[in-house]
Amino acid sequence: MADEHICAADDIGEMEARGYVGRVDGMQRNIFAVRQDGALHLYLNRCPHAGALLDHIQGQFFTPDGGFLRCGMHGAIFRIESGECIDGPCEGAKLTPLAFEERAGEIYLTGTTAE
Ligand code: FES
Repeated sequence: MADEHICAADDIGEMEARGYVGRVDGMQRNIFAVRQDGALHLYLNRCPHAGALLDHIQGQFFTPDGGFLRCGMHGAIFRIESGECIDGPCEGAKLTPLAFEERAGEIYLTGTTAE
């Protein structure tokens, strides 16, 4: 199956995150893209604690200081670059990273998780 266009790379600025819907392992899933130190990361928008969208309030993915991702449901805190939960009810668990490619300034999901 062809890679799925998600967004332009420029749509995600430094320390910005945006939610999308994309096909992962054959199913439409909520996903999000986040950029830190120039590097783009795509994850399933699904908290490993109880499966909530991280942006319980749509579009709010970060801790108030902006340094980490935060699940709005019960407050789990995640490293942006690895998806590792470092505080909260699922400490030690990880967000699910997604495989993607950047081609000519556009971001394409390749349709699978990255692990
Ligand atoms: S669902 Fe995310 S911390 Fe509980």
